[in-house]
Amino acid sequence: MPGGACIEMEHISKRFAAVLANDDVSLSVNRGEIVALLGENGSGKSTLVNMLSGIYIPDAGSIYIEGKRRFFRSPQDAIAAGIGMVHQHFKLIPVMNAWENICLGERGSGSGLFKNPFIEKKRINEKISEIERRFGLSVVHDKKIYDMSVGEKQTVEILKVLYRGASALILDEPTAVLTPQETARLFDMLRNMKDENCAIIIITHKLHEVMEISDRVTVMRKGRAIGTVKIAETSPRELTEMMVGVSVSLEIRREEPAPREKPLLEIRSLSCRRNDGVRVLNGLSFDLYGGEILGVAGIAGSGQRELCEIIAGLLRAEEGSVLFRGENLLGLSPRAIRDKGVSMSFVPEDRLGMGLVAGMSIIDNILLRSYEKQPGVFVDRVNGRVLAEKIVSRYSISTPSVQHIVRKLSGGNIQKVLLGREIDLAPKVLITAYPVRGLDIGASYSIYEMLNEQKKNGVAVLYIGEDLDVLRELCDRILVIHAGELMGVRDPRTSTKEDLGFLMLGHKPDAA
Ligand SMILES: Nc1ncnc2c1ncn2[C@@H]1O[C@H](COP(=O)(O)OP(=O)(O)O)[C@@H](O)[C@H]1O
Ligand SMILES: [Mg+2]
Repeated sequence: MPGGACIEMEHISKRFAAVLANDDVSLSVNRGEIVALLGENGSGKSTLVNMLSGIYIPDAGSIYIEGKRRFFRSPQDAIAAGIGMVHQHFKLIPVMNAWENICLGERGSGSGLFKNPFIEKKRINEKISEIERRFGLSVVHDKKIYDMSVGEKQTVEILKVLYRGASALILDEPTAVLTPQETARLFDMLRNMKDENCAIIIITHKLHEVMEISDRVTVMRKGRAIGTVKIAETSPRELTEMMVGVSVSLEIRREEPAPREKPLLEIRSLSCRRNDGVRVLNGLSFDLYGGEILGVAGIAGSGQRELCEIIAGLLRAEEGSVLFRGENLLGLSPRAIRDKGVSMSFVPEDRLGMGLVAGMSIIDNILLRSYEKQPGVFVDRVNGRVLAEKIVSRYSISTPSVQHIVRKLSGGNIQKVLLGREIDLAPKVLITAYPVRGLDIGASYSIYEMLNEQKKNGVAVLYIGEDLDVLRELCDRILVIHAGELMGVRDPRTSTKEDLGFLMLGHKPDAA
């Protein structure tokens, strides 16, 4: 029986061929409430909300909106019932601007524009401004989507569903693509919507976000709803245990760094411009020691990518130097760097592209790099299999076989293949860019352990990160960059997230 909540899903099941994606799942959300849906990858979260937004039809179970049973046959049905969905991958039209995207699909707006474009445009923009005022969000109405940051595009998506009159909002992993500042802004908007009596479902697998934004959380595991708890009555540890089904340690282990000797890598006055002339690195200098994990914090696009690529020999710098044990590597290709006997590994942001070849097997991907190490030697597939099997078992990579195509693995397993391959080359310097982006908790912790092990072995690890909590727990020092400039180096044990955020935004502490 429905109990008067805004959204009630009762005993919902959904099967895709052999996979029971949702197994007797119930979920309810009240008006003025934010409910988080938490679960590891593949636990059935997207499937569940897709039935609420009319994308999938349940095999069994019922959906009530405001106490009334509904049968959604299409997204239009759900929109008509006041349910708005903000997808993980935005569905905006890049060549159009914000207001055109927002009103797209509004009944009659097209013909109105045809009849009296000026009045119609004015009416639409006024309506958008009113929504912006009411819910505390804002976007430049005339800005083209292709000129927008990810955060701005997301705001347009949200405005679009509010414009259509949604009073229940579903967001599928909205923070996966956002910076800490953008996430904070999104959460402010969600709190405003909550105050305006909206019902909100947010999917995320970041525990601290669940703790921060939601009132209640429903935890899913393997297609089932394991339980629903109030945030005030739970802890990250309890939620993790519900999520993975076993008790886990939630502490990221931080080993004591090795006693400092000479730096392995000295970065001096690196400057670099993009093709369009915009300066992305500006006189950046720092040292990286063996046996430490040096974190790099910064808003996305502050020069992190260029820094990594310059060190790895993939991008030219305008000036500066990259000294490995005193020898300048700047301007050398990756091959030339290796030929000098410098063992350096780079785990790029873009795992399937720069890192691995998506359409090739685990064996071939592992051979790719070891083949590169010894040019001229024919590819030894027997040893390749042995090596691949070693890496798969060492890092508990879950795959049917080492011949499995990399693209078909989960994100966590893909990252373990890449990191495992790089670590097997016994690097002295390991550069990692966002190595846990998009991974669930279990997989993220295995990656932290892999990095800790490298640090213990004396490797100099550079960790470009986005989660400030993780940076503060994992790293020995944190470099903060803003617009390609070094803002400061901080001790994670004594600096707060706010300190780091302040530097990330480009505010230098007063020179007192
Ligand atoms: N359209 C689909 N066809 C076949 N299987 C699917 C489809 N959508 C999801 N699944 C499967 O259902 C399970 C749950 O997926 P999903 O709801 O996307 O999980 P989550 O969002 O929690 O990561 C997974 O095993 C996934 O492979
Ligand atoms: Mg999903």
